Amino acid sequence: MKILVIGSGGREHALAWKLGKSPLVTEVHCAPGNPGMARCARCHAVSATDLTGLLALAQREAIDLTVVGPEAPLAAGIVDLFHREGCRIFGPSQRAAELESSKAFAKTFLQQHGIPTAHYGIFTAARDAHAFLARETYPIVIKADGLAAGKGVVIAHTRAEAESTINAMLGGQAYGDAGRRIVIEEFLQGEEISCIAMVDGERYLLLEGARDHKALGDGDLGPNTGGMGAYTPSRLWTPELEGRIRREIMEPTIDGLRREGRQFTGFLYAGLMIIAGKPYVLEFNVRLGDPEAQALLFRLRSDLAPIVRAAADGKLGAQELVWDARSSCCVVMAAAGYPDNPRMGDVIHGVENAGSHADVMVFHAGTTLCEGHLVTQGGRVLGVTALGSDLLDAQQRAYAALRDITWKGAYYRTDIGRREL
Ligand code: AMP
Ligand code: GLY
Repeated sequence: MKILVIGSGGREHALAWKLGKSPLVTEVHCAPGNPGMARCARCHAVSATDLTGLLALAQREAIDLTVVGPEAPLAAGIVDLFHREGCRIFGPSQRAAELESSKAFAKTFLQQHGIPTAHYGIFTAARDAHAFLARETYPIVIKADGLAAGKGVVIAHTRAEAESTINAMLGGQAYGDAGRRIVIEEFLQGEEISCIAMVDGERYLLLEGARDHKALGDGDLGPNTGGMGAYTPSRLWTPELEGRIRREIMEPTIDGLRREGRQFTGFLYAGLMIIAGKPYVLEFNVRLGDPEAQALLFRLRSDLAPIVRAAADGKLGAQELVWDARSSCCVVMAAAGYPDNPRMGDVIHGVENAGSHADVMVFHAGTTLCEGHLVTQGGRVLGVTALGSDLLDAQQRAYAALRDITWKGAYYRTDIGRREL
């Protein structure tokens, strides 16, 4: 089987690495890929949003299965395009991808299908949004409707902060058109967990829960990022919670989408808040999480390739996912200035040494080669991922490897996993 992985981040490196280990897979290609992916796949200089270029690549290389990493090509309709041309691809159609590309759509969908979520309002006019605030308490959560690379959410602690956020979003200054419509919602306090299913349109396989660290700083302080680290499993993930997530979240979502003519195939990610044992949906993503994918795929023992192919064909059967009994922890190393203004072009040292530690994998994200040197080229640069006998051991192994890596201004959280230790 020849596989094409679309994207160039840590999640895509983990996908390409994992799929490439399958005895069924003869070639892994990626577009555009990164220097880490180039070690386990053939990279092609086609951007993840150049849909016709990607289709031409898949046809030219006779790809059997395309796996989409990031949300942008899904929201732009890459799956619809590939299907029109008879090419197998794993991901949701453009209409199903609205679950992520419009938070207003997702909230309305959740409400209509009786799936637990925070109380909310949807606004395009600042006056109405301000009037809604009068009835609310603080903190309150304000979200840009459209895609904002995981950064379109503001938790406002005062009415003044909420008003200025509303004005900046609706005025287009904060997130451009993505913020011209906003969701304002109740702040939920609980424990967050990322729950991902592989869906074939009707049936699904649930991955184990993983926990991300969204905030930039230690102790969950500072602005939201795409994710600064992740681990799996979590003590939150009990058989009882898993059962509730299946019955109360995943099944009504997959069935509801099908009934609305938005049949979902692909990785369905529910960002959940668990309050007194009950799961509430904070958001949906229509792809694997990053960095959850790095932690999860490093721990997955099953051969992923035949499962993805079966799901893409609408034929998930009795497959089961087998997990390493050990824990997995991924620590993201970011460039100075991330998330607002990451500095690029710094030479990275020590990746080889870090990757030579036992049970450690360094997944690349914002890296590139420049005159033979590996240099930074994005906000999140590397994801140092380790397996250990328990979370503490995995965390210690990840940080021990990470300390071999240096570049000017490298930044990482020092407390990934600490909330459970
Ligand atoms: P989202 O992109 O919607 O997942 O939001 C990003 C992050 O903001 C989430 O992972 C949560 O940490 C936080 N967040 C979003 N919505 C809420 C909410 N209603 N209550 C509390 N925190 C939230
Ligand atoms: N780590 C969160 C996300 O991928 O959206």
